Amino acid sequence: MHKFVIKGGQPLKGRVRISGSKNASLPIIFASILTERAVIENVPDLRDTRTAISLLMDMGFDARFSKNKLEVVRTGNVKTEADYELVRTMRASVLTLGPLLARFGKARVSLPGGCAIGARPVDLHLKALSRLGAEIKIEHGYINAVAPDGLKGAEVVFDFPTVGGTENLLMAAVLAKGKTVIRNAAKEPEIVDLARSLKKAGACIEGEGTDTIEVVGTDSIGEIEYAVMPDRIEAGTFIACVAAAGGEIVIEEFPGDTLEAVVDKFREAGVSVEKLGDGVVSVKRDGRLRGTDITTEVYPGFPTDMQAQFMAAMCLAEGVSVIRETIFENRFQHVLELQRLGADIKIDGNTAVVRGVDRLIGAKVMATDLRASASLVVAGLAAENTTEIYRIYHLERGYENLDRKLSELGAEIKKEKSEKPY
Ligand code: EPZ
Repeated sequence: MHKFVIKGGQPLKGRVRISGSKNASLPIIFASILTERAVIENVPDLRDTRTAISLLMDMGFDARFSKNKLEVVRTGNVKTEADYELVRTMRASVLTLGPLLARFGKARVSLPGGCAIGARPVDLHLKALSRLGAEIKIEHGYINAVAPDGLKGAEVVFDFPTVGGTENLLMAAVLAKGKTVIRNAAKEPEIVDLARSLKKAGACIEGEGTDTIEVVGTDSIGEIEYAVMPDRIEAGTFIACVAAAGGEIVIEEFPGDTLEAVVDKFREAGVSVEKLGDGVVSVKRDGRLRGTDITTEVYPGFPTDMQAQFMAAMCLAEGVSVIRETIFENRFQHVLELQRLGADIKIDGNTAVVRGVDRLIGAKVMATDLRASASLVVAGLAAENTTEIYRIYHLERGYENLDRKLSELGAEIKKEKSEKPY
């Protein structure tokens, strides 16, 4: 087990390049199931992307991954199963369901358990795939799905614009017979990236990025060759780091206008974010931050994946910040740990009230989930003395070389072996 040791108080300075998007890579990696060969570039080297690749190899695909380039080739028979062990480590494995059903007419995928941030059911995924003709049974913790006559296009209205549900349905519809209309679809940029990768391979998709996506199924699609978009949540996390630690950095490979809600809120709080060119922005904080309220929403609202990092930055702001989490039911695990650093935060249901304090003091803290661990890094950079963050395997699921990138910006952060059994 490893921990991060951060000596806070160093303002950040320099340039950082954002890696490819985890949440765009995962569905595009699983879209490889739909075709004979896929070459995907700018795939971040993370625990989660490596889990996805292991899952494809376990199914019988040949996969080679080096220097952020992944090549997946179908070599022979495919085991249309995603077993518990792999799904347990990464819930997004449920995104194999749509492609397996569409390509092979059957799938046996372990039900993903809940996770630290909530129950995270997949009922909307299953309801949508049933609308395309899949016969789905839940047995012994597995989703057993068959589509003996293949999937047939249909109109599907999501009760909630689920990101994963939209991705699963989109990949299934690409090879379904006839037309599928997805209403109340999620509009996240990662879905647009998935659609672009499929369209490049010959899929007929319109409307991605809006709440209505239309797909005309084809018998097959060609090879996928695609470079994944930059990770907008990593970019937002670096803005939070500057907001907390101060200084001035330049972010390269900034993902265009996919972070407007986050940039607006940090500007409101007193951080300056200036566009220097295509995909290049400068981020600077010199004065004290002002307390700023956020409510997490589906895209293009403030993303839930930036809530914890924003909260960490607001702990030292002047005044009060009211933070409402509306997407997940239990996404305040980071509050208890931030309080250990001296933060003044009160939780009332899905709302956290942060009262800015003059200083945070380093302490030993525990990561509980991916974005909670990022928020502890943000706070540790601003805290006096030393902060030790245990269980950083949570963080390494979704951030590529974060400690190295921050060290290159002048932060005093080191990854060390943990002296504890965690
Ligand atoms: C994706 O999760 C992301 N993960 C999450 O990022 C992100 O927080 C989330 O979208 C929201 O933007 C990946 O892309 C791999 P949802 P997903 O389906 O697809 C409920 C990170 O930190 N729901 O939009 O699981 C669900 O419980 C991760 O990188 C149902 O009730 O999100 C939740 O409350 C964390 N039934 C809400 O909808 C369903 O069938 C949003 O879930 C599906 C979802």
